[in-house]
Amino acid sequence: MWKSLALPSGFTVDFMNMFGDGRLQEENVERELLTIGTKAELGMSKIRLTGKAKGHLSKDGTPEPVYFMQMPYIKKDNPNTVESINKLQRYSKYLRDKIDAVIFLGIGGSYLGNKVLFDILAGDFWNTDAEKRHGYPRVYFSGNNLDAVQCIEQASEIKRLAATGSSKKEQFTVMLVPISKSGTTLEPMSAFTYFYNEFAGSKTIKVEVTVVTDLCVDIKESPLLQLAEQRAWQCFDIKEGIGGRFSVFTDPGLVTLSAIGGDIEAFLCGARELDEYCKNAVSAENPALLNALLKYLVGRQGCDIEVFMGYSSKFKALGEWYVQLLAESLGKRHDRDGKLVNYGRTPVVAVGSTDMHAQTQQHQDGRRNKIIQFLEIADTGLKLKLSNPFKGNSFFEFYKGLELDKALKIALAANEEALASDGRYSARYVLPRLNEYYLGQLLYFLMLSIAYEGELANVDAYDQPGVEAYKKIMKSKIWQV
Ligand code: PA5
Repeated sequence: MWKSLALPSGFTVDFMNMFGDGRLQEENVERELLTIGTKAELGMSKIRLTGKAKGHLSKDGTPEPVYFMQMPYIKKDNPNTVESINKLQRYSKYLRDKIDAVIFLGIGGSYLGNKVLFDILAGDFWNTDAEKRHGYPRVYFSGNNLDAVQCIEQASEIKRLAATGSSKKEQFTVMLVPISKSGTTLEPMSAFTYFYNEFAGSKTIKVEVTVVTDLCVDIKESPLLQLAEQRAWQCFDIKEGIGGRFSVFTDPGLVTLSAIGGDIEAFLCGARELDEYCKNAVSAENPALLNALLKYLVGRQGCDIEVFMGYSSKFKALGEWYVQLLAESLGKRHDRDGKLVNYGRTPVVAVGSTDMHAQTQQHQDGRRNKIIQFLEIADTGLKLKLSNPFKGNSFFEFYKGLELDKALKIALAANEEALASDGRYSARYVLPRLNEYYLGQLLYFLMLSIAYEGELANVDAYDQPGVEAYKKIMKSKIWQV
């Protein structure tokens, strides 16, 4: 069994610190791999072949397919086809040529993946750096909370930009993009209503709309789709069998890549090559299966928290995306045979080295119920070596020659070593670089791992019945006031 695997792409997974005294034993893991691991692989093959996952039902109790493993393959009848990718490319050009600002309006699976793509590939200074944008619009996210302050501040910013003549044409053109599979989610729909109303009557702002929703739904059930049809708004599809948290490789996620001129093909290629690798590997060399199995086994030893700790400030949104993927997919009351299991781990987002000054105390000395999942970029492509501007100051002389990216790697290694020295669990993923291709590999790897763990734990990784309880109460209260 491999405790550390380097894929042909250079993406590496290192599970060394899951093993050792007081941690997992290799012989036991090998035994489990042959028994429950093999069973999980069979379950996954079945989903691949048939699009059916054992016991999976939609919210209304009818069987629902699971097609997320088809996403990386651009093929007729798949979630991504040559036509759908061409449409996204045309949309990208349209946004670059005609649109000054895009506001994406989505929540949960209709938001988190988009924010990952934006934070990692566009970054903090996209909106203020026209040179970096190469004509692409400014990009904002809203509708991911019931937050009046955020909505008002967002609208003010658009009005300010319009008033200062930051537009391509005479009028500042804003593209509102509600993303919602159901088309009825409170947060994005209320923000969409607010922004449309704010901008539609303006003399300086022109508002356009693109709707991303389930286009196969009965139009009578979708007020958003009715509006889109009446007003001839451009639409993108949220395909059947692709749940929100598994959707970043399809239209609802790819529209964000379109808005920033990202390389859609490279993103899908990363996922595709990762999928091929896992599909063809023997169990002991399948990184997604091993990742799932080790986390499942430490769960049996009482680890019910997973800290996703990416070493880069760009990884905060990625951690938040992973929170939803893990929590909604595996946090289940019953298994697929109806047995009460209360399965899952509580996901926590941490950023290294930032949270070494906040959370690490708890990781190192608190309850032994955590696995710390590290993520590292081997080469950020940017070097930063310090000089000493304070000549004669011996303290700052020490900083002279310090390379920050090397220091970050040392910080991660130190954290890992300290945890291991106390017999605590950690694992590390390493991405050679940070681009569309490797991001595709990582996001798809995480989805696949979660799907494998669903098979291992015998829980339905594709539903989220636990969110219905609060939704029912909230809706009845909101429409009362
Ligand atoms: O994963 C999920 O299914 C949820 O988090 C949804 O993505 C979220 O509730 C948003 O739903 P919708 O896309 O229907 O607006």
